[in-house]
Amino acid sequence: MKVSSLFLFSALLLLDTAAASPSAKPGKKKKKDWGNKKPKNFIMVIPDGFGPTSELMARDYVHWKDNSTTMLPVDGLIIGQTRTKSSDSYVTDSSASATAYSAGIKTYNGGVGVDSTFTPYATVLESLSLQGFKTGLVVTSRITHATPASYIAHTHHRDLESNIALQLIGHAHPLGRRVDLILGGGSCHFLPSTTPGSCRPDSTDAFTLAKGLGYNVFQTRSEFDKNPKLPYLGLFTRDHMSYEIDRDSAKEPSLKEMAIRALNDLYSATRKSKQGFFVMVEASRIDHAGHANDPVAHLHDILAFNEAMDAIREWIDGHEDSPTTMVATADHECGGLTVGGDIPQDPSYWYAPSWFAGSRASAGVLAKRFLAFTGSDEEKKKFLREEVLKPYGISDATDAEIQEAAKITSSGKLETWLGKAMGDRARVYWSTGGHTGADVTLYGYGPKVEEFAGHRENTEVADFIVDLFGLNLESVSRKLRKNQTWVDEWVKPAKGETMKASVHGH
Ligand SMILES: *[C@@H]1O[C@H](CO)[C@@H](O)[C@H](O)[C@H]1NC(C)=O
Ligand SMILES: *[C@@H]1O[C@H](CO)[C@@H](O)[C@H](O)[C@H]1NC(C)=O
Ligand SMILES: [Zn+2]
Repeated sequence: MKVSSLFLFSALLLLDTAAASPSAKPGKKKKKDWGNKKPKNFIMVIPDGFGPTSELMARDYVHWKDNSTTMLPVDGLIIGQTRTKSSDSYVTDSSASATAYSAGIKTYNGGVGVDSTFTPYATVLESLSLQGFKTGLVVTSRITHATPASYIAHTHHRDLESNIALQLIGHAHPLGRRVDLILGGGSCHFLPSTTPGSCRPDSTDAFTLAKGLGYNVFQTRSEFDKNPKLPYLGLFTRDHMSYEIDRDSAKEPSLKEMAIRALNDLYSATRKSKQGFFVMVEASRIDHAGHANDPVAHLHDILAFNEAMDAIREWIDGHEDSPTTMVATADHECGGLTVGGDIPQDPSYWYAPSWFAGSRASAGVLAKRFLAFTGSDEEKKKFLREEVLKPYGISDATDAEIQEAAKITSSGKLETWLGKAMGDRARVYWSTGGHTGADVTLYGYGPKVEEFAGHRENTEVADFIVDLFGLNLESVSRKLRKNQTWVDEWVKPAKGETMKASVHGH
């Protein structure tokens, strides 16, 4: 699609009036002095698919909206960069990168808690749990998705999510139940195949198994609001949770709400104990919006991640009696996002964040809405203009654009088309629907974090946690490998199984 001069004119009308504001206040808070304190707890935050340009795209939008804000909450927490390549590619997927973060090993794209010979490797979560720490996983994707899976499950392929569900709850795990707090989406891999909405291949009822293992199980926000006791398993949606921009707060808590609840519950549970807690919090869907090349969904999940990070930093400051170290870093960049592009229109060095101000829904939700609409060609075009493009933030669609979009018959294609139409206006472009090999930003806060500052290999994140808490991952790995039957049934590929080659995507 061509950007007409009409678009450019409107972009100029909406141009940032704030850019030259002299009253910018520093976003960086004064660094607390933690002295030589050792942390009791550790928080790992993974903004999946969040590259440096994503941070910039969101920062300048926020600044456009509010002159006084020149930095995002995460900007003030930067301590370095992370190199993310996997054992078989310069461009990693989430499971290989999360396995580096959790177990300190490089593995192949698709591998979950195993190396390239399918040998299981213990994670920091498993090791800390065995030492008496309370543990948690908080995500906005399916809880069985690659990143959380790599902290507790061991299997040759990330797509085996029904297997992963049973390892996660401790039913098919040689170390038993190791995760005390689980929040996210993805109940479909817990429901037996006989239940509508299940995506299990068998009739195993993983929720009933979880209850048998001691979990309080819930699937609604109202039960979450009643403060269930640990251990608990709360999954709010069948599939991934909603993008932040589409989220119905009556049905799904925000990432920040889940993260702070997790911190409070894990803190209460360990208050009287020498051992603290470990929690992995994933802003999972920044990545999914990158794959869809939807800058609007991407932006709002980034803002939700920033709110969560700000709240986590505040929480750490407010709990000095239980010193907590937080490290955050993406697993990889996604989309090859650029701001500004090689385009013939003037000005060519340009980004117009103002375009995002009118967005009310993700391209994915709006594309599905359009494809579900039935009516005459004229009604369809009107619907497209009023109920799809406008709520996406595009109120100046040309007739040619409407013609073009009306012909699209797949929601995936319309989703990308909408993202491109917005990108052409805001001047935000993508180079791929997959990941890139770009370095990602490393953030940290709390005791000892200065010692980790610098340019790090992703495996060093696990090494840092191992050193902080004096863990011996090798001895836990030996425990995992002891039961050959388990390794054969749950970890290794069956004879002739060739899932490894099919890995791409997230
Ligand atoms: C930003 O600053 C400019 C120049 O001082 C002012 O005209 C504008 O109203 C401000 N915008 C906001 C959102 O405060
Ligand atoms: C070994 O693993 C299998 C498969 O998970 C399980 O059925 C069996 O009980 C385990 N054996 C021991 C001794 O834990
Ligand atoms: Zn991805």
